[in-house]
Amino acid sequence: MIVLIFWLEEFMDLCINGIYLPFNFKIMSTNVMEAVKVTENTAIMKGLVYQGPGEKKWMDVPKPKILAPTDAVVKILKTTICGTDLHILKGDVPTVTKGRVLGHEGVGIIEEIGTAVNNFKKGDHVLISCITSCGKCEYCKKQMYSHCEDGGWILGHLIDGTQAGFVRIPHADNSLYKIPAGANEEAMVMLSDILPTGHEIGVINGTVKPGDTIAIIGAGPIGMSALLTAQFYSPSKIIMVDMDENRLAVAKTFGATHTINPTKDDVAKLIAKETKDGVDVAIEAVGIPQTFDICQEIIRPGGHIANVGVHGKSVDLQLQKLWIQNITITTGLVNTNTTPMLLKTVESNGISPEKLITHRFKFDQIMDAYEVFGNAAREKAIKVIIGD
Ligand SMILES: NC(=O)c1ccc[n+]([C@@H]2O[C@H](COP(=O)([O-])OP(=O)(O)OC[C@H]3O[C@@H](n4cnc5c(N)ncnc54)[C@H](O)[C@@H]3O)[C@@H](O)[C@H]2O)c1
Ligand SMILES: [Zn+2]
Ligand SMILES: [Zn+2]
Repeated sequence: MIVLIFWLEEFMDLCINGIYLPFNFKIMSTNVMEAVKVTENTAIMKGLVYQGPGEKKWMDVPKPKILAPTDAVVKILKTTICGTDLHILKGDVPTVTKGRVLGHEGVGIIEEIGTAVNNFKKGDHVLISCITSCGKCEYCKKQMYSHCEDGGWILGHLIDGTQAGFVRIPHADNSLYKIPAGANEEAMVMLSDILPTGHEIGVINGTVKPGDTIAIIGAGPIGMSALLTAQFYSPSKIIMVDMDENRLAVAKTFGATHTINPTKDDVAKLIAKETKDGVDVAIEAVGIPQTFDICQEIIRPGGHIANVGVHGKSVDLQLQKLWIQNITITTGLVNTNTTPMLLKTVESNGISPEKLITHRFKFDQIMDAYEVFGNAAREKAIKVIIGD
């Protein structure tokens, strides 16, 4: 039985990936009602549990159970850490409550399915999408899965996530993907979140076209994913901007034609020298006012600024300059609607996102993994894999 909770959010902002999305009313089903009663017979697993700002613990938690007929329980084989998990740990995402198992990326094996799951069976090897979608609501019908009325970004946020032995996936038929036989499992983990984000919110929203000159501000996992997927559309120049020299060097090996370090060079001047009158597409993949400013300075008439970064404060929008230049600005939260296409591209070796993985850890070393990922520049880290 699905219990509906009418959750009045008159004064509350729901935070998604650090973005505070104000809305007033949300209907939640069993997806948020997942408390498992602990009895003597409760099965136990390990999970990375949020303990409040700045605190986390790798500890015993109840193994998830099927709560709705559309659920699946997946045994996690490999997971990773996202910048959003670091935001949560800083206390930036107040909708994550103490006791929540973190993580919204990973691959695994189906352990159990609910009676209404049709596309999967026990033992299937699956990729977990960071976005849960029912496939039936008005938003899902428009492929805006991030706004699914009974899903969206809930894993490791409103329900327990993937940094654990097992995870419960609601609406399994629409929120999991079969991993093709022989596929690189680590590459698949990059498909849960970062690759669709760079592709959909950076490259597709920015409408990258053959021959375009593009600039990507920020060479983290998201900027790198935009760099990899932009090359589907054959831009003529890809300029990566970051102050981390290691990341810039890696970006060159992934196809960047130019790199700029803003602590050493004037980005706008160098880009003006390199292009006739700026770039066709500027992808913002940091989330601070300075980098949005760079995008506004380097965009050419008719160009697109695709904002991917999660901003914690407002930016200085230069509308008085942009309107007359016919500039388009886009924003967005990943929908993962291009995941099936990306999966095929990775399978055919069109792109190799596993090259973003710099460090590997066992599950019981997850605290070390957080330490490395949290000090990415010092540790020369881009993406970490956790798995046995
Ligand atoms: N829109 C979405 O759906 C979505 C989804 C996931 C993540 N994000 C956001 O995308 C952004 C990037 O994510 P990430 O995981 O790659 O983050 P990250 O922190 O790993 O990478 C950001 C990069 O920006 C660089 N940087 C910082 N300040 C800079 C400056 N002034 N000039 C140039 N470079 C600078 C850093 O050196 C770093 O390499 C974050 O804001 C994240 O929250 C958005
Ligand atoms: Zn993420
Ligand atoms: Zn839906």
